[in-house]
This record gives sequence, structure tokens and C-alpha cells, in this order.
Amino acid sequence: TTLYLPMDTTALSMGADDVAKALEFQTSANEQTINLIRNGSRGMFYLEPLLEVETEQGRVAYGPVSIGDVESLLAQGMLNGESTHPLYLGLTENIPYLAKQQRLTFQRAGIIDPLSIEDYIKHQGFIGLSNALKLSAQGIVDEMKISGLRGRGGAAFPTGIKWQTVLDAKVTSSEQKKYIVCNADEGDSGTFSDRLIMEADPFSLIEGMIIAGIAVGATQGYIYLRSEYPQAQKILEQAIANAYQDNYLGEAIQGTEHQFDLEVRVGAGAYICGEETSLLESLEGKRGLVRAKPPLPAITGLFGQPTTVNNVISLATVPTILAKGAQYYQDYGVGRSRGTLPFQLAGNIKKGGLVELAFGTTLADLVNDFGAGTYTGETMKAIQVGGPLGAYLPESQWQTPLDYEAFSAIGAVLGHGGIVVFDDSVSMTAQARFAMEFCVVESCGKCTPCRIGSTRGVEVIDKMITAHEQSEPTEALNELLVDLCDTMIDGSLCAMGGMTPIPVRSVMQHFSDDFITDATVTE
Ligand code: NAI
Ligand code: SF4
Repeated sequence: TTLYLPMDTTALSMGADDVAKALEFQTSANEQTINLIRNGSRGMFYLEPLLEVETEQGRVAYGPVSIGDVESLLAQGMLNGESTHPLYLGLTENIPYLAKQQRLTFQRAGIIDPLSIEDYIKHQGFIGLSNALKLSAQGIVDEMKISGLRGRGGAAFPTGIKWQTVLDAKVTSSEQKKYIVCNADEGDSGTFSDRLIMEADPFSLIEGMIIAGIAVGATQGYIYLRSEYPQAQKILEQAIANAYQDNYLGEAIQGTEHQFDLEVRVGAGAYICGEETSLLESLEGKRGLVRAKPPLPAITGLFGQPTTVNNVISLATVPTILAKGAQYYQDYGVGRSRGTLPFQLAGNIKKGGLVELAFGTTLADLVNDFGAGTYTGETMKAIQVGGPLGAYLPESQWQTPLDYEAFSAIGAVLGHGGIVVFDDSVSMTAQARFAMEFCVVESCGKCTPCRIGSTRGVEVIDKMITAHEQSEPTEALNELLVDLCDTMIDGSLCAMGGMTPIPVRSVMQHFSDDFITDATVTE
């Protein structure tokens, strides 16, 4: 019997390795033979560790499984996919959380063995590359433009236009080369889509980077990975070694004249190194200090050469676009937000996990239909979308469609698709203060509005809390905070200082009744 049990960070943190050991021990004691494949999670984190059994009807699932369940699962016919055990969930594909999704980028996640090129190919892997090899560099870039893909790191800049800039840019001398840099410094709170795709389907990222290299004329790629992702590092490095062995990386890729080398570089744990220019500084071995733009990295990037810096999800989506066609991808979505976005449900939510959907669903549908409300069962009060620099949305805004433009119209951002839910025990004052404090800690220090402004921001909020406790007026301090936010937005060099006021202002605007007054209730 073939069984699947994930080995990604989430499943491991929920005890998947212990379950694997118990399964092997128990089946060998029972003289039963199993073929246990360690896959990646399907993204239904609330069911991890999710154990799947291959049956004639397809894979059936049991979860969440703990070591204590193994004996009873085996006793109740789990190896034949029987349904009598309380953890039986039926055919995995029919679990509504999964069945209702539109999986393009994550089509293989949780299905394949992440380290098997054979399995990857069996599930449409490398079709995109083989189609790309039939096109000219300009032809590939055109496909990207037609697809409508926009940068999934958060800024939503059209990927095809970025690639065009790099394709058209020249290296500074014949000894120099262009680079593809994958930004895998996924620092946003509540986000994990980059990690999951790297751990569940690393070849999709590798294939995307090879195609990007062929498209813009780059021969060297780097995956800049955050140090907090050791399991992703392990899986990526093994996958890269396998790709070299099967001639998908290195010289004369698959017998063609194309060359592409790829390496993982691990960061040292700074949020700001997710900002593309400080990431490049860090890759060059320097301190992660933000560079002024222009020049754009597309023209003067790594070691001063034309460089494509793309997020993991953007690159991992490229194979699907090239395999199925740009039009197929662009048929999903609404307005200028084409294709799908892997949303990540986190925070105080009952069913946390990854939900890939076409743009256009409302936030309310996402957190209710998929997330099933709060984990605590208390009333949902605020939802922060787009990481620590994203706005806190009150219930009146939950009908907003998940679409870049609709979010920007309400002063919010979709960002990298992270969605963090809070129940009514949250102190919105503490959240606003946290935004400023986060900026104090993570600022690279290059410009004044961010470096000093965030420290003053924490102080002003603290003064407001004290004033409120002593029944003194807070209006003047409120005005000062509004002013400070404006200065940070207008005067910061990068999104760190420029976006920190977004969560603060959203609290002041939408939770004004609670702002400052709830500070003494919870901390
Ligand atoms: P940006 O708008 O300055 O740039 C977006 C991208 O487009 C960059 O790669 C830039 O070099 C490129 N670009 C702009 N004009 C171009 C042109 N004419 N030709 C070629 N390329 C061009 O935004 P930035 O500062 O890179 O990113 C800010 C975003 O990052 C925020 O919206 C936030 O959502 C997101 N973010 C994501 C995090 C994560 O963990 N994924 C963490 C923190 C922020
Ligand atoms: Fe550095 Fe902050 Fe200025 Fe960005 S806004 S360059 S993080 S000091």
C-alpha cells in the first residue's frame, strides 16, 4: 500500500515525523508492507498531519493523525482505505476546502513526491520549459505579458514588463552576465505560500527560474532564502542537485545551447532583506541597506548587472503559464488582477491554510467559507490583509473583492496574500503600536522618516495611552500621529517606512472608538 505523509515545516511541527516512525514500527510489527512517500502539505493545515492512502478510487485521507491514532487506524483497515475510523475524511480531492479551490500554481502541491523529477514530469512538469524552448526570448516575454501575471511578492508589478526591461538591458562588459534572483525572504506575518511551494513542489520554482533565464538571457540564478526556513533549504538543495543530475540545470540544458546555474543563498534574518535592493546588497555580501531607485535592479542589479528579481510564487507560476498558455491563465481573475493568488489564512482562524483562488472572491467568503470563522469561536473583529504593513479591515469592508485595485481603492493592500484574523479580544491600540515598533526593529536605518519616525510613533502612542488613563485630552497627540504618518509616507525611501502608517491609519480610521481606549483592557 502506498501512503503519503507530508514533510513540510507545518506537518513536521504538528508531529508528522513521529507519525511516520509509529507507522513504520507498527506495520513492521504487524508484518504489513507499506510504501511511505513523504510529500508536501495539501495546504489544509488544520488537518495536519494528514495521512493519505492510495486506493483504486483515488487517495483517501485521515487527519489530523497523532501517534496515538496509528494503532487504531491500522486495526480499522486504513491500509485498504476503509471508512470506519473517526479520522476518515473520504477522498482527499472531495474535501470541500480543497475541491472549491482553483489550483494552478499549487496544482501539484501535496500530490507529488517533491524530490522526484519523474513524479514531477508525470504531473505535467517541464512542459512549460519544453514549450519555452520552442519560442524566442521575446516570444516567452510576450507570453508573460499576455498572461497578465503581476508580482506576487506584493507590489503587483507586471512580470512581463519587468522581464522585457531585463531582456533589453545590456551587461556592462563581455565578462559580465545577467542574473535571475528569486526573492524567498518571505517575511510578512501570516504568510507561508513561498515556503509551501518550495517544500511541496520545488521543481516548479526551479523550472520557472530556468524559463526566466532563457527569456531574459541570464545564466545564473540565486534563490535568496530566509534563514527561518531550514526545511525549505534542505528540500531545495536536494531538488537542485537532482535537476543538475538530470541535466535541467548546468550547461547544455536538455541538449540545447542554453545554460543556467542555480544556487540557494541563506539570509541572516532581517525583514528588510526582502526589499529587493537590500536583498541584492546582502547577496553581494554587504549589510542589507536599501539602495535608492532608480537605477532599477532590472537595469543595474546584482553586481551592477541587469537582474530579474521575482518572488517565489511569481516564478513558480511561470511553468503553468507556459504549459497551458498565457490566455488560459489570464482567463482567471477580474479587472487587471489576472490569474490566481494563493491566499494564506492565519491568525485566530478555525481552518488555517492555503487557499488558491482566482481574484474576485470577497474577503468575507474566504474567511467564512474556507476559514470557518475564528479558532476561539468568538466574534471576528478585524482582519489584517497583506502582512504587517497591511491595513486592519473592519467588518464593513469584508465584502471587498480580493483584487489589487479594489483593495487599493479602500486604502488597503492585498500584498503577498497573507490574511490574519483577530477576534474581539484584540487590542487595536496594541496592534497600531506594534506596527510602529516593528518598523523600529526592522528599519534599515538609511532614512530619517522611517528610522526616527517609527520611534517617535511608538512614543506618541504611549503618551496617548497615558493621557487617556489620566483623563487628559489626546487630540493634539492624535494630530501629531496623523502628521507623523504623512511624513513617513511621503519621505521614506522604501515600502518599510512608507507603508508602516497603513495599519496605524486603518486603526485610527476604522476602530476609532477603540483606539487608545482599549489599551488598558488588553496588552
Ligand atoms: P515597487 O513598486 O517599488 O517595485 C515593484 C517591482 O517592480 C520591483 O521589482 C521594481 O524593481 C520593479 N519595477 C518597477 N518599475 C519597473 C520598470 N519600469 N521596469 C522593470 N521593473 C520595474 O515595490 P517594492 O518596494 O519592490 O515592493 C513593495 C511591496 O512589497 C509592498 O507592496 C508589500 O506588499 C510587499 N512586501 C512583501 C513582503 C513579503 O514577505 N512577501 C514583505 C514586505 C513587503
Ligand atoms: Fe531603510 Fe526604512 Fe528608509 Fe526603507 S524606509 S530605506 S527600511 S530607513
